[in-house]
Amino acid sequence: MRVPFVDLKAQYQSISGPIQDAIARVIGDTAFIRGKYVEEFEANFAGFCGAKFCLGVGNGTDALFIALRALGIGQGDEVIVPANSFIATSEAVTMAGARVVFAEVDPITYNIDPAQIAAKITPRTKGIIPVHLYGQPADLPTICDLAAKHGLKVVQDCAQAHGAAIQGKPLAAYGDMLAFSFYPGKNLGAYGDAGAVLTNDAGLADRAKMFANHGRISKYDHEFEAVNSRMDGIQGAILNVKLGHLDEWTESRRRNAAIYDELLHPVPGITTPGTVSGNRHVYHLYVIRSGNRDALAAYLKEKGIDTGVHYPIALPNLMAYKYLGHSPADFPISSRYQSEILSLPMYAELTREMIETVVRHIKDFCSK
Ligand SMILES: Cc1ncc(COP(=O)(O)O)c(C=O)c1O
Repeated sequence: MRVPFVDLKAQYQSISGPIQDAIARVIGDTAFIRGKYVEEFEANFAGFCGAKFCLGVGNGTDALFIALRALGIGQGDEVIVPANSFIATSEAVTMAGARVVFAEVDPITYNIDPAQIAAKITPRTKGIIPVHLYGQPADLPTICDLAAKHGLKVVQDCAQAHGAAIQGKPLAAYGDMLAFSFYPGKNLGAYGDAGAVLTNDAGLADRAKMFANHGRISKYDHEFEAVNSRMDGIQGAILNVKLGHLDEWTESRRRNAAIYDELLHPVPGITTPGTVSGNRHVYHLYVIRSGNRDALAAYLKEKGIDTGVHYPIALPNLMAYKYLGHSPADFPISSRYQSEILSLPMYAELTREMIETVVRHIKDFCSK
């Protein structure tokens, strides 16, 4: 049995009628950029996230950048980000004109470690970007306490965490702004690039809206120079249809993760994801660790099982951040995990039989 890493076609087949109708409506109304379908999605997604305001933007990287700029973070400021994430998290800091400061992750949850954040705070620190990596909430209560103590802003990178929660509270109950990606493979994915910025602060929402739309006050009156990053009508309409299925898809992901946990936990040489009890992990990715990761991935590939690595080079070890002068010893956990982590197939349409097949091959490999 072949098990793909993701299967966007299977998801599309289950909702193709309503999606086709939604796209046809946008074209019929020529509501191509922003417009009523985007506004409808913004209202629905704000409600889904428990936030007061939502702004649809061009993609998740822009969402982070726009949030930072709306908060007034820029040149001369430092922003603390985790050592293990996708480059967009740190890239947005540089795009905003600020300096990237990496902090090490927690060895169990792989999320940014608040104690390591505390160690990196300087008089120039203006913000923290906790990433809810793989769909598991970062320790927002501790991070927000730390931020309050030092007068820092918190922008959450929620690109992998649509619908995640902390002890029953939505992510939007914490911090200043939230940035989401709707890249097609995300838990809530568009059919192209899209993203969103959320906040509970009306002033920040207005600022972000202007920033994402040429610093506009009215059509040709601009208060400042900014950027063009607006959600397309077609993406808004598609996301609206898909949002109606998100809870059910998330529950399937969580069920699939529980099956993996149960079957893989006793396998020697494999470490299953460490979670925080009472938090809602939405399993954008199901990431195990193995000391023999590359050979395991190659073995699975041979057996028809696709896997991924998120991410194979920890951010401070990338060529892009050579200028910061770090060595892998500065981030021992992230640097070790980059060669141990392996993302297994994870999506709502995955069947128990598919998971059992993946696990059987992992067990065969580990017993050799
Ligand atoms: C953690 C994280 N942050 C930010 C992004 C950026 O999102 P986008 O690809 O929509 O720009 C992604 C997704 O690619 C991501 O996984």
